[in-house]
Amino acid sequence: MVLNSRSSILLLIATNLLALLPTTIIASPATSKWIDNDSINAGEILGSASSSSIFPSLKKRANGYTNPEENGGYMLTIVNGTYPAGLGEPLNVILSADSDKEVLVKSLDKGGFLNYMLVAGLGEECLGQHLGSDQSANLGDGKGNVTEVEELRYNYGNPYIGTCQETFNGGLHLRYWIQNTTNAYFLAVSVEMDLNSGHDIVPNGYNIGRDQLIGNLTGQSIDTSKLTNTSTFSGSGSYMNYTYQTDVKYVPGLLKNSSDDINHYITVEENGQPAIDGLVAVLTVKITDQPKSSSGAWSTIAQIPLITIFTPFLLASLTTLF
Ligand SMILES: *[C@@H]1O[C@H](CO)[C@@H](O)[C@H](O)[C@H]1NC(C)=O
Ligand SMILES: *[C@@H]1O[C@H](CO)[C@@H](O)[C@H](O)[C@H]1NC(C)=O
Ligand SMILES: *[C@@H]1O[C@H](CO)[C@@H](O)[C@H](O)[C@H]1NC(C)=O
Ligand SMILES: *[C@@H]1O[C@H](CO)[C@@H](O)[C@H](O)[C@H]1NC(C)=O
Ligand SMILES: *[C@@H]1O[C@H](CO)[C@@H](O)[C@H](O)[C@H]1NC(C)=O
Ligand SMILES: *[C@@H]1O[C@H](CO)[C@@H](O)[C@H](O)[C@H]1NC(C)=O
Ligand SMILES: *[C@@H]1O[C@H](CO)[C@@H](O)[C@H](O)[C@H]1NC(C)=O
Ligand SMILES: *[C@@H]1O[C@H](CO)[C@@H](O)[C@H](O)[C@H]1NC(C)=O
Repeated sequence: MVLNSRSSILLLIATNLLALLPTTIIASPATSKWIDNDSINAGEILGSASSSSIFPSLKKRANGYTNPEENGGYMLTIVNGTYPAGLGEPLNVILSADSDKEVLVKSLDKGGFLNYMLVAGLGEECLGQHLGSDQSANLGDGKGNVTEVEELRYNYGNPYIGTCQETFNGGLHLRYWIQNTTNAYFLAVSVEMDLNSGHDIVPNGYNIGRDQLIGNLTGQSIDTSKLTNTSTFSGSGSYMNYTYQTDVKYVPGLLKNSSDDINHYITVEENGQPAIDGLVAVLTVKITDQPKSSSGAWSTIAQIPLITIFTPFLLASLTTLF
């Protein structure tokens, strides 16, 4: 296009300004009466903070997860080379798929699962080096025996290299898997000994690991010895300005209150108690606050309608420039 006159430049500017208008109508704030299926889609693309509370998630189930044993799976992990053969570690924490869908994404961004775990100081492994041995799990989701997604380790307050310290000194760590049919996360959590001790599990280390994780996520200390099959806890924690409200139910019946088939059971049993208490902590997590910048798309767009008011003035002042 050859812009050879003042009026054609003004025409171009005006056309571009007007082209913005349909966008502002479709994407105006969710309280608007204009909401329809298209604006719902627009809201999801923009990652609206409120999308999960306004729009029902696609697959809601009673518990937000399925017991793997209902479909040929196990609540214990599958560990190679145990003695005797066939021992496993308990999947003692479940992140329910009834949680906000942002938390169910394996990501550090947008408040995803990896950001949530950092609330409890659990991060990806030391400098990207995977030093533990792999385990598998069968979550009864038609995928069979699947290797863990990854291992997360306690970072001792240092999100950059703290997980290296855990690798050598031991401490809180977990492996996790994602149930394909529900999107629930199944975590095998424990407190392990140092590398020299072959990363054995400390006394009562499965129960204590679970409860340190829950304690860190809900901001309180959990007394493992006082837990019952009706225990519940709630609390919140933040990381990178995302605040997560975590509701926890200790659910009986998924695991046995026993040492049967439990890896490292000899070091784990304490005071005549079985290696695990049989309770699984089921978490339902909601994002209750998030950084202002992540809702930037909304605030920018919210200001755009002003252009419609100011367009005549804008054009008028432009003409005076030429
Ligand atoms: C929105 O979508 C639902 C299901 O896809 C459909 O039943 C409904 O008629 C649509 N509403 C409008 C206003 O298009
Ligand atoms: C366990 O051993 C089997 C057979 O040796 C092998 O196929 C599998 O990959 C191993 N699993 C892990 C998690 O290392
Ligand atoms: C999956 O793991 C279970 C439990 O260790 C084992 O019995 C089964 O053979 C494994 N399945 C395959 C296909 O490797
Ligand atoms: C389920 O498995 C399919 C195929 O491997 C994969 O594309 C999909 O992302 C998985 N879904 C979940 C929720 O893990
Ligand atoms: C948080 O986790 C760390 C590391 O395992 C542990 O030392 C601490 O006691 C935990 N905090 C709570 C409140 O459970
Ligand atoms: C919970 O524990 C009590 C005893 O403390 C027992 O009577 C009850 O059957 C248990 N409930 C379940 C669902 O396991
Ligand atoms: C978190 O919020 C505070 C105060 O609003 C701000 O100073 C800080 O830069 C934010 N941090 C991140 C990582 O967004
Ligand atoms: C597990 O069983 C032991 C006895 O073997 C009992 O003392 C303990 O209270 C049980 N724990 C739970 C949570 O049911």
